[in-house]
Amino acid sequence: MQNKKFKRHTVTSALPYANGPIHIGHLAGVYVPADIYVRFLRSKGEDVIFVCGSDEHGVPITIRARKEGKTPQEVADTYNELNKKSFKDFGISFNIYSRTSNKIHHQTASDFFVALNDKSFFKKIESEQYFDEEQNEFLADRYIKGTCPKCGHGDAYGDQCENCGSTLSPAELIDPKSMLSGSKPVLKKTKHWYLPLDEYEPWLRKWILNDHKEWKSNVYGQCKSWIDQGLQARAVTRDLDWGIPVPVEGAEGKVLYVWFDAPIGYISATKEWAEKNNRDWEPYWKDDRTRLLHFIGKDNIVFHCIIFPCMLKEHGDFILPENVPANEFLNLENNKISTSRNWAVWLHEYLNEFPGKEDVLRYTLCANAPETKDNDFTWKDFQAKNNNELVAILGNFINRVIVLINKYYDGKIPERNELFDIDDELINGLKSAPGALEKSLNAFRFREALSGFMEIARSGNKYLADAEPWKLIKTSPGRVATIMNLAVQVVANIAILGAPFLPFTSEKIFRLLNLGKLNWGQAGEADILGPGHLIRKPELLFSKIEDREIQFQIDKLKATEQDNSHAKEQPEIPEAKDEIAYEDFSKIDVRIGKVLKAEKVEKSSKLLKMSVDTGIDKRTIVSGIAKYFKPEEVEGKQVSVLVNLAPRKIMGIESQGMILLAEDQDGRLVFVTPEHHVVNGSVIS
Ligand code: 2FM
Ligand code: ZN
Repeated sequence: MQNKKFKRHTVTSALPYANGPIHIGHLAGVYVPADIYVRFLRSKGEDVIFVCGSDEHGVPITIRARKEGKTPQEVADTYNELNKKSFKDFGISFNIYSRTSNKIHHQTASDFFVALNDKSFFKKIESEQYFDEEQNEFLADRYIKGTCPKCGHGDAYGDQCENCGSTLSPAELIDPKSMLSGSKPVLKKTKHWYLPLDEYEPWLRKWILNDHKEWKSNVYGQCKSWIDQGLQARAVTRDLDWGIPVPVEGAEGKVLYVWFDAPIGYISATKEWAEKNNRDWEPYWKDDRTRLLHFIGKDNIVFHCIIFPCMLKEHGDFILPENVPANEFLNLENNKISTSRNWAVWLHEYLNEFPGKEDVLRYTLCANAPETKDNDFTWKDFQAKNNNELVAILGNFINRVIVLINKYYDGKIPERNELFDIDDELINGLKSAPGALEKSLNAFRFREALSGFMEIARSGNKYLADAEPWKLIKTSPGRVATIMNLAVQVVANIAILGAPFLPFTSEKIFRLLNLGKLNWGQAGEADILGPGHLIRKPELLFSKIEDREIQFQIDKLKATEQDNSHAKEQPEIPEAKDEIAYEDFSKIDVRIGKVLKAEKVEKSSKLLKMSVDTGIDKRTIVSGIAKYFKPEEVEGKQVSVLVNLAPRKIMGIESQGMILLAEDQDGRLVFVTPEHHVVNGSVIS
């Protein structure tokens, strides 16, 4: 690496959208490699800042908010909190986890836009866009659905068909419909600010294709293909009411496109960090001796390699990225990870279900990282990596060393006896390890680095197994002292070199060795621990993961699959029934009532028997909701009751009326309840 010419590093990792939790795909693609790299740099004593935060703008958040009856800010607050905590608990060592809803970000992004606007960088272009006349709103591409012109799929979005994967523009959709009102949208004129990417083509060609041939082949290849296809101007403003208002005249009601403000979020996050830590943010973004690195997933390549660099260059005050080590995608059990289908391993759930096993997931995700092509995560492989590698090799070796030193020497490191040869292979292996790992890490080959690291444990394990000190302790104590001294030096090297990959384990090893944290520069030696140094009592670093734990996870995914197919089988919204006269409607007597008591009906898995206060009387009603509600969940609830339905016997019980229910999008039944408490017996009309 050309590190020498750099004084410091600014490492960014993609700001996750705050509209859902973090899953293993995000981790393997972005956050695990970024964290490994940053921990490595810090251990080398480099000046580094590692920034991230929630990306809180964009249409997906508004869609989720609408679905859940919340404001976009409420949705963002929830996931910002959840993701920030999950990252922390998983040991992703950001210097700051910021938010694009912060004031400092709004100001930074607005200033950036104004600076570019002042340079007359943007082109203002008028175009026709779909508009929902009922809602009086321009429609974001995601808010328009219609038939895909490529494959005929009836449910394609305005920007993409999820059936055939084609990228679309809303104007291409056949029979477009607004998802806000269901109405047919009309085309209406609007004006937007465009980045003239086309004008940057010659510069990009040189800067990437000529000057950055060292970029990963998947990144370089994608950039080349974008540039070769010809770049087009891109709108960086939107007609939306969620986002950062466009800070120039004539742009009332418009906001910055989320992909314009999000990468500026890296700068705002650095500013926030600097403010909180009484530091200067500017060298991290403005000094050309700073190495700027963006860790991202492959879907973000165009934004970080083409769009954001054009913005930075045009602005003029900022450095450009040195490298953008993007990964490909991770699949789960041979299927694409999908948030909407719930086909994912969610980080917060993993942390709950596998407490203390953060490093097992970090290890598996790094070993299987989709560095050059998409890769697959399977629970069986996760189990095998834990049981056959972490437990059987790494954990076993360290445990043996700690146990034997405690057993033979009361925990004191024995002195090497010069009469006995030390194992040259092992020593040479230790000497070359830091350099070899460094080379892999600097080339962003994290799998290779991890496997090099595990080689150290493997060779230590083999050394002990071949030397068999337990057979020699009586007959050749001097030899055993030499063996055990050397073995514990290997353990110390593992603690240092393993820290970027397995930070929790490394910390435990340092504790076992009764050492403070050592740095990368101290690795490679066989005399880290002096004779007489007292280590601690053994504690297991890893434990076996049982088949049943894995089965539980596989079953959980299978249940998701069933839920998905069930959801697909949901009948369409039924056609409206034939018109009725008001007199017919007025015959129906629906009241608000309160469930006083509920119990399961014997021999039925579906029925609950309830005693309901209808305001008129107290009566028994039987309803088929036992699958969805426990009796105690129903008791005390106010519900809507059809009180003048003729009584009928259900499983031998006379049911005197009917409780009204609706079916949600997942096929679950939900009560129709008043917005706030009303008197029992209130009439619904
Ligand atoms: O793809 C995503 O999840 C985006 N929220 C990433 C943004 S990265 C950066 F530009 F902020
Ligand atoms: Zn299609």
